[in-house]
Amino acid sequence: MTDEPTTDGRRTADRDFEVDLDDVLEDDEGDEGLFDDLLSGEPIFENKEVLRPSYTPHELPHRKDQINNMATILVAALRGETPSNILIYGKTGTGKTASAKFVSQELEKTSQKYSVPCEVEYINCEVTDTQYRVLAQLANTFIEQNRTFVDSRVEELQDLREAAEDDPSVLEADDENDDHLDFDSPEAVDDYIEELLQEKSEMEDVPMTGWPTDRVYARFFEAVDYVERVAVIMLDEIDKLVEKSGDDTLYNLSRMNSELENSRVSIIGISNDLKFTDFLDPRVKSSLGEEEIVFPPYDANQLRDILQHRSDVAFKQNALSEDVIPLCAAFAAQEHGDARRALDLLRTAGELAERDQSDGVTEEHVRRAQDKIELDRVVEVVRTLPTQSKLVLYAILLLEDNGVHNVNTGEVYNIYKTLCDELDADVLTQRRVTDLISELDMLGIVNAVVVSKGRYGRTKEISLSVPVEETEAVLEADSRLSDIENVTPFVQARFDN
Ligand SMILES: Nc1ncnc2c1ncn2[C@@H]1O[C@H](COP(=O)(O)OP(=O)(O)OP(=O)(O)O)[C@@H](O)[C@H]1O
Ligand SMILES: [Mg+2]
Repeated sequence: MTDEPTTDGRRTADRDFEVDLDDVLEDDEGDEGLFDDLLSGEPIFENKEVLRPSYTPHELPHRKDQINNMATILVAALRGETPSNILIYGKTGTGKTASAKFVSQELEKTSQKYSVPCEVEYINCEVTDTQYRVLAQLANTFIEQNRTFVDSRVEELQDLREAAEDDPSVLEADDENDDHLDFDSPEAVDDYIEELLQEKSEMEDVPMTGWPTDRVYARFFEAVDYVERVAVIMLDEIDKLVEKSGDDTLYNLSRMNSELENSRVSIIGISNDLKFTDFLDPRVKSSLGEEEIVFPPYDANQLRDILQHRSDVAFKQNALSEDVIPLCAAFAAQEHGDARRALDLLRTAGELAERDQSDGVTEEHVRRAQDKIELDRVVEVVRTLPTQSKLVLYAILLLEDNGVHNVNTGEVYNIYKTLCDELDADVLTQRRVTDLISELDMLGIVNAVVVSKGRYGRTKEISLSVPVEETEAVLEADSRLSDIENVTPFVQARFDN
């Protein structure tokens, strides 16, 4: 291309044409488009979706006991009785949500099969985290169902009304079917239809904010009790709700049954943090924990089975080399037996292989995936640290950067103070900073070990457990920390002395 655009960026019409044509011809001949490269690789995945967290598997190996246990308790709902409340707990990635969702799907399926009115309402309390929102969401779900219920009832009645034109005897109750209403006349049917439609028009949705909680609760209560049913309310991440808004919601829900006339409510709480029960009113605690089901972490063999099941669907045949699944399972087993982590690892390894345009996924891809996931986690944890913790971490990092390893709390504290001065930030006491270091230790960002210095007592030796460069980049991306300049010479000076 010899023609340069004129200085104002425009060209003559002819020239434009020439250039464009050349470009097109050139493209046709050789140069591959942006996506050609990516498409040309041997495809690795058959269906990547089944490895994503959003996918609910139909088969859950190694959760038979927990699933049967839940089913044994919930079967009461199908008999029209109130199931005991259930508290499910276990570490993250142990299949609590997946199992509970699976059981509720089965329960609803069976209830439809036998026409037993039983519904499961799932609420993720990490998202819906206040009493208002929980009650409003429940109220609106039941209101919606009640509307549908009225519609189908009205349709039935209209059919009945029509049939009565030809044969008035259809209006009489037949003995075998008690819920068939007995009508004196076709007009009585009309009146009843009218009444139902009137009720329906009064079914007003609860707004997502603005009402007093009492009113939301009353509306919810009324909506659940509108028809006979068993409502199983599943509160996933229930600890988040309690942490954010206390135990009022649970208190209200757990004492509802004594006042409901037509319906029954049962609660399933799911949590990966059992400590939240310490904050519950004893009555709520005992009511919620009528039945407890524990989900233990998976071991490496169990994780292998889980991965094998999924990979059969997720990957093309022979796309995985032999050691891929065992290695993913082994890594995830070290990480407190987390199936989510195992699946992430397998998916990421597949994506890396895909990006490499490799024929298949190898052990090497799994190792790289492990590093990538770990780095992503570190970046996320560091990014979301409170400013004071970031300053403490930055101090440790600067020391490490300057070749000072295994530092003690005093050394960290000195640098930390300088950083605070630079930034005009509050200086915490050394004791508080020691606490923050322990927190960083718990998050796996630093490693703090207590070492004995003989008769000089004991001290903590602190080292970084995360890659220096990436961590530094994340810290420096924080606008509050980006003001720090030239601390390095200062650190240097301290140790030259
Ligand atoms: N036994 C299993 N078989 C197949 N997949 C499983 C099994 N257990 C867990 N999984 C999968 O692992 C991932 C994590 O499971 P799930 O979301 O149920 O964990 P959780 O116990 O609810 O964790 P958290 O406490 O973090 O919410 C999901 O993708 C789920 O489908
Ligand atoms: Mg869960």
